[in-house]
Amino acid sequence: MRVIAMTGAGGALGGAVARRLASEPDTALVLSDVSETTLAATMDGLDRDHGPVVSVLADVTDPAQVDAVAAGAVEQFGRLDVFISNAGILTASGRIHNVATADWERAFRVNVMGAVHAIKAAVGVMRPQGSGSIVLTASVAGMTAWSHSGPYCATKAAVINLAKVGAVEYARDGIRVNCVCPGTFLSAIHEGLSEEALEAIAAKHPLGLGAAEDLVGAYSFLAGRDSGWTTGSAVVIDGGYSAP
Ligand SMILES: NC(=O)c1ccc[n+]([C@@H]2O[C@H](COP(=O)([O-])OP(=O)(O)OC[C@H]3O[C@@H](n4cnc5c(N)ncnc54)[C@H](O)[C@@H]3O)[C@@H](O)[C@H]2O)c1
Repeated sequence: MRVIAMTGAGGALGGAVARRLASEPDTALVLSDVSETTLAATMDGLDRDHGPVVSVLADVTDPAQVDAVAAGAVEQFGRLDVFISNAGILTASGRIHNVATADWERAFRVNVMGAVHAIKAAVGVMRPQGSGSIVLTASVAGMTAWSHSGPYCATKAAVINLAKVGAVEYARDGIRVNCVCPGTFLSAIHEGLSEEALEAIAAKHPLGLGAAEDLVGAYSFLAGRDSGWTTGSAVVIDGGYSAP
């Protein structure tokens, strides 16, 4: 049985990815999030016919809690084949000098250190196994410059590079590390944005705004055997955002 763990599983993207992976044969899922409410919503919507699903509350800023997600997979199912680091936040907006140091630090703690903790936890199990796939959620924001979004852009750029460094460091251990770079799809991270701001973002996507479901194929690919020769990749799924 393939065993997959995921952080940030309670959100829009995490929930959609969990639903897709739960529909695939012979797959056990360990789903985690810092929010009990959103995690419960994801758990409620799952098809359990293809394998067991368990949930664990974990804050990705705490390495011990992320280690416990990986350890939970091993305790319950004996192994860990895929670790998806999906938790992420969009912090306060402003030009670089106007964003408070605490907001910069919070973005790095969740978006970057959360991914670092996921890689550490995953390789702790996958190196002795001699195999594994680590998938990080980055963003097209990590490949372009969004005015007033320094913390988000800088942290997602770091995540893209972490996937590349992880790929070269762990290939010899049989571990692949990739990231997905979504364009904009509606989720809780856009709460508070005006209709006008959303329309402006949508206009930059030739295919319009996406939905979380538009991303799930990329996660399924990176979690599956067909991506066996894919590592260090930033898989861009963005409705054409980065094409011009
Ligand atoms: N929505 C977009 O347009 C978009 C685009 C590109 C990338 N992303 C990325 O996709 C991922 C999922 O975002 P989403 O849009 O589904 O948003 P979301 O807010 O619906 O989901 C994010 C989830 O992460 C969880 N989370 C936040 N902080 C956490 C922490 N410290 N520890 C554990 N879990 C934590 C939240 O509780 C939430 O369930 C994020 O990494 C985000 O940056 C989103």
